[in-house]
This record gives sequence, C-alpha cells and structure tokens, in this order.
Amino acid sequence: MTTKVEHAFEALAADRAAGNGQSIASLFATDPNRFDGFSARLDDLLLDYSKCALTGDTVGHLLNLARAAGVEARRDAMFAGEHINLTEDRAVLHIALRAPEGVKLDVDGEDAVAQVHAVLAAMARFATGIRSGALKGATGKAITDVVNIGIGGSDLGPVMATLALAPYHDGPRAHYVSNVDGAHLFDTLKPLDPATTLFIVASKTFTTQETMANAESARHWLVEALGEDAVRHHFAAVSTALDKVAAFGIAHDRVFGFWDWVGGRYSVWSAIGLPVMIAVGPDRFEEFLAGGHAMDVHFRSAPLERNLPVLLGLVGIWHRDVCGYATRAVIPYDQHLSRLPAYLQQLDMESNGKRVTRDGTPVSHDTGPVVWGEPGTNGQHAFFQLIHQGTSPIPVEFLIAARGHEEDSIPGLQRQHAMLIANCLAQSEALMRGRTLEEARAQLLMGGRDPAKADALAPHRVFPGNRPSVTIAYDRLNPFTLGRLIALYEHRVFVEGAIWNINSFDQWGVELGKELASTLLPAVESGQAPAALSGSAAGLLKHLTAPAT
Ligand code: F6P
Repeated sequence: MTTKVEHAFEALAADRAAGNGQSIASLFATDPNRFDGFSARLDDLLLDYSKCALTGDTVGHLLNLARAAGVEARRDAMFAGEHINLTEDRAVLHIALRAPEGVKLDVDGEDAVAQVHAVLAAMARFATGIRSGALKGATGKAITDVVNIGIGGSDLGPVMATLALAPYHDGPRAHYVSNVDGAHLFDTLKPLDPATTLFIVASKTFTTQETMANAESARHWLVEALGEDAVRHHFAAVSTALDKVAAFGIAHDRVFGFWDWVGGRYSVWSAIGLPVMIAVGPDRFEEFLAGGHAMDVHFRSAPLERNLPVLLGLVGIWHRDVCGYATRAVIPYDQHLSRLPAYLQQLDMESNGKRVTRDGTPVSHDTGPVVWGEPGTNGQHAFFQLIHQGTSPIPVEFLIAARGHEEDSIPGLQRQHAMLIANCLAQSEALMRGRTLEEARAQLLMGGRDPAKADALAPHRVFPGNRPSVTIAYDRLNPFTLGRLIALYEHRVFVEGAIWNINSFDQWGVELGKELASTLLPAVESGQAPAALSGSAAGLLKHLTAPAT
C-alpha cells in the first residue's frame, strides 16, 4: 500500500474514533438535510447512505482514499482494455458486452464491440427461432422447455436475471441445472419431454466437472428417447472453448462464443445470457444491456462524490475496514430479486476474497466481507432477530422498487406493495433508532404489566440501534433497471478491489478443492483410500463407501 493510502486509512480511523458516541440518529437531528447530502441518484435510481455513521468529513476522507488508491486511473485502465487481470494476463472487458454498436474498443488488436454484436445477432436469430417455433426439435415439435446446464458464473447470472425478469417472460420455460448432485438434473428432467426440450451447455472453459457430467447425462437422457441424431436439434452451447464444444457434438451454428476477457461472474451480458434472451426476447435483453451501459457511462464520467458505484464501494470499505464488520447482508424487498444475494455472493466473494495484493504481498487491510441475504419480508421472520439484537452489527443493503408489476392484476396486490415498502422502510428505521431500556419499560407498563414484570422483561426488548444500512430504490424492476443494478454492483466490487489493491478478476482459491476432488474420485469409486489422505478423510471415505446394510 502506498503511504498516501495508509494516511487516508489512518484519517478514517481517527474520524471513527472521534465520532464514537455520535449515533446515526443524532446525525439526522443535527442536519435536517442529511438525506439530500448523503444520497445520490442516477435518474430514478437512488442510493441512500444517510443511515450510515458517516459525516461530511468521513465522506471527504473516503474520497481521499479513493483518489490515493488511484481508483479513477484503475477504472480507466479497465475501460481501455489493459490487462488488469495480471495473474491471467487478460483484459477485463465485460463493459464491452453492453457497449452500443459502433463504439471502438480494441482488445489485443481485435475490435471487441464488433465481435460482441456479431454474437448478439447470432443469439437473437437463434432465440427468435426457438421462441417462434421455427427451430423445432428432432420430431418436429416446438421447444417448450430450455434447460441451461452450467455452474458459477455460467448459472447464477442467468438464473438471477430470469427470475428478475419474470414479468417479461413470454418464451419457453427456463430451467437451470448446476449441481453435480444428480438429483438436480433428475428432478429437473422428470416433468420434461425430450421431444420439446432444448439444452444449453454453458461453460466458459467447457471442462468444468459438474457441467460436463450433467451435459453427458442429459445427452444420455435425450439419446435414449430420440436417438443420437437428436443431439444436433436439442443441444446448444455457450463457451470460449469452441474446439471442445465441437468434440461434444454440438452443431457449429448452435455454438455461441465469448472471450477470455469476460470473467465467468461478469458474463451474464454475454452469450451466457442466452437462456434469458430466449425467455424474454432479444428486445428485452437489449434493454438489459442498455441499463448496464448507462451505469458504465455514469461510473466513467460522474464525479466521485456523486458516483454511485464509488459511493457504494466507499461505504463498503468504511464498514469492512474502519468499523470492522465482517459481513454485509443484501436484502431485496423485491421478490423478483430473490437470487440476487446468491449472484452477489459469487460476484463479490470470488472477486474480492483475496489475501495478497496485486504484487503478491499480503494485504494490510481486511478484504471482501461475507455477503449474504434473502428477500424481505421473508428475512424478517428468519434472521432479522440477529441483525437487530445480535452482538455484532451487520450493515444491510436494502433494495426496493417504487412500483411492482402486479398491482393491477389482482385486487389487494396494490396494498401488498404498500406493505412491502412500509416493511422495508420500517426495518432500516428500526435498525437505526433502536429502543432504549427506558422506552422498553415504559411500553410494557403502558401495556398493563406490573413494574416488577416490566423490569424483568425490558432488557429483552431493548434494541441497541445505531445499526447501519443503505437503501437502493428504483422506479420498477424492468430490464433496463436490472442492467443498471447489476453493473452498479460490478463496479462497486471494482472500487473496493482497487482500494485494497487486489486482483478482483482471478479465482485461484477455487482450484485446490477442484484438484483434490478429481484425485479423490477414483478413491470414492474403488473404496480404496490413497495413503496421502488425512485420517478424517479416510474415515469418512470408508463410512460413505461401506456396503449398504
Ligand atoms: O469454480 C469457479 C469457476 O471457475 C467460476 O469462476 C466460474 O464462473 C465457474 O467456475 C464455471 O466455470 P465455467 O464457465 O468455465 O464452466
């Protein structure tokens, strides 16, 4: 870390120490315009970070930190196609996937945007053919069900986006199989008819064990029902490894490529989004890309103090490194975003779960927090107890739409959206305000408890309060807004990674487990433990491979 960065961190630590005792609620009391001062917008998309323990000085120090860490220069290097993924010697250009046609962006001598649009056009032709029934299955029936087989970035993005865009879904049903546990494929295929099912094998490398195993099993299921020749009608693939796809036997006009400058967890915008495009149609997919691009333009051009990804990233740094909070919860009060937390777990934790800096030396500050969450209001009836009264504060990120899609469809749903908003606002308010012992006691007395009982119960009803949250609000979750939200989170991860000076674009931490799994497979199949296995693994292997009793 440079001295300037360390000084900025020291200023933040001093700021935190000086502010001790000053509650978030008191910051509102002293500044009636706090909401305006501590929120930022991009059109209808609003980031409210006023319910965090930040003063104007704190934000100033955070912005100094971003400048000292060279966030802007790093951002520009990414947009210029420099090989910022140092350990894999690759450019990082998911931003090219949503750039409008005609934008000039050369990567290693190739016009990236032109390549992207050629693939998008091929995807659109294929998606339209499947949606219209012009492209049929081997028996002449139209495709009614699409099964995407992929894992990690080749699954989580499309799953999340398919659910998010459910109101726009007018194509064949979409299913996703990821787990190597055969139950996932089996349960998915059980109600399906091979004659009307299309498989998309999605794998950047086309070597991932889970995906290849599921793809082989899906192929058996299809061939058993319809014969070998059906494969060319019922399989498509998305990959950067075109030679390996050809070896699997997938017809070349059903293979959609992408490039090594697209990281798996940043790939939903690429051909990996094909199942989404088939579900909602090319026009809606284009709107999704346009939303991502709008956020790119904002990230690139808005001043740091009004830049949504920068501010969200700085709030993240404040909570992780200055306040020491080890996790952050993402709670969408938007059922359509029910898989956003799972998607963000990969995006954030695979990107920033790192322990060495870009030059390989140990980091000097904690890096990526644990990211977790579930949709509201469900989370309220599960883990919010701990968020309100547990011993460690957990910063929460709420997401909420002003309007849903369903209000006019069933009487009562309009009121339910009002309830959703009320609950979302109530939670962040309760987290901030809390309830004192005196308030708890007074409430019990007012409820008719005798003083002794009130004294006994009151401590259980105390809420410490002063627990931080941010709220991201938008008009309605349409494809454009989904694109803006996902790009917002991508760039937030970028900002945090740049400040920690880590490579947010490799994932070596997933390799050791993969290597051991492939060496263990023969042992599991033979029941013979290799000598190098620990006592625990050998014991478990023996237990799991013992003949059934
Ligand atoms: O195991 C991690 C990972 O490499 C992710 O980064 C990636 O998204 C996922 O596996 C799937 O990889 P592929 O698309 O190559 O099958």
